[in-house]
Amino acid sequence: EKAGYDHYMLKEIHEQPTALRQAIAGRIDPIEGDVDLGDLSLSEAFLSDIDEVQFVACGTSYHACMYGKQLVEHLADVRATVEFASEYSVGSGRDPERTLVVGVSQSGETADTLRALRVAKRSGIRTLGVTNTVGSTMARECDDVVYIRAGPEIGVAATKTFASQVVILALFAVTVADERGELDPTAGRELLEHLQNLPGAVQGALDRDDAVEEVADAFADGDAFFFIGRRFGNPVALEGALKLKEISYDHAEGFPAGELKHGPLALVTEDTPVLALLTAGTRPDETRNNIKEVQSRGAPVVAFTAPDDDGDYEVGFDVPDLGLIEPLVANVYLQLFAYHVADDKGRSIDRPRNLAKSVTVE
Ligand code: F6R
Repeated sequence: EKAGYDHYMLKEIHEQPTALRQAIAGRIDPIEGDVDLGDLSLSEAFLSDIDEVQFVACGTSYHACMYGKQLVEHLADVRATVEFASEYSVGSGRDPERTLVVGVSQSGETADTLRALRVAKRSGIRTLGVTNTVGSTMARECDDVVYIRAGPEIGVAATKTFASQVVILALFAVTVADERGELDPTAGRELLEHLQNLPGAVQGALDRDDAVEEVADAFADGDAFFFIGRRFGNPVALEGALKLKEISYDHAEGFPAGELKHGPLALVTEDTPVLALLTAGTRPDETRNNIKEVQSRGAPVVAFTAPDDDGDYEVGFDVPDLGLIEPLVANVYLQLFAYHVADDKGRSIDRPRNLAKSVTVE
């Protein structure tokens, strides 16, 4: 049932092209530049009048929300916030009738996320659930639900569902922008085209698994691992670090690249590999300065760059031009990196210690 893979996690990483095709199937009309997320009760009148979209989630789904927040703000010109579900409160000065809460959860059963959605609902706020699980508590309790259709995810580490969540949030951002009359047709069409090209680009990254394995073998003994990125690269840097720490048990942290110099640089040595997102949409010129700072302390840099980047990195992987969603391709390399480091150490990859697939306590 692992289809020849040693672990479910690896199988699920490789299922991403299929999962991504399923996520968008029937939901994009590339010619018209339209998105159809199904029968949602969110009316044009409601969406054009909201003044805040609040995202709530935990763990990997929280990172997908960080991405979603940026997409909504970028495309729909409406304020968006993202909060750890366990910390959520409506916030003062909010008008419930002009607020939408979006909960994102692979399982649809995460207690913290369900609590946040109930808090919102009690305050009279409409809720939209984005989940992989049909019939889950989230799906039943939210006013509206969109399924990510990633198929079952058995490995405890969330992999394919992260990419699918971000894709759905991208379609959601286009929907909100369109209903508000804010959608720049060129930007919208470009994003939809990139979403359609994403499965192929992800396959291109998967085809380089052997190269990633070599890099993981070379760096697996690091004392700690840092992941940096800006803008849309930031949530992916955080996600890369979470993936590595949860399955390899190594110390890994993700930072917005600019924050490195405000403290964490103290931890950087020749034994702390730095994985850096430098694709076109992640403000690579600025991140290159941060890379010089870590290299001057001897840290090796694994860089994910635009194909024409001729910077000086210890290791480089090219990511094709996919605009706002490029970091999702880099994320595939980070998933494979985490997997191979954990595999080198003989970890229990599909059932890492101290983590359950669905966390049903607050
Ligand atoms: C990370 C991981 C957890 C979950 C988190 C939320 O790989 O699996 O961080 O992402 O517990 O779970 P869901 O998405 O089911 O709400």
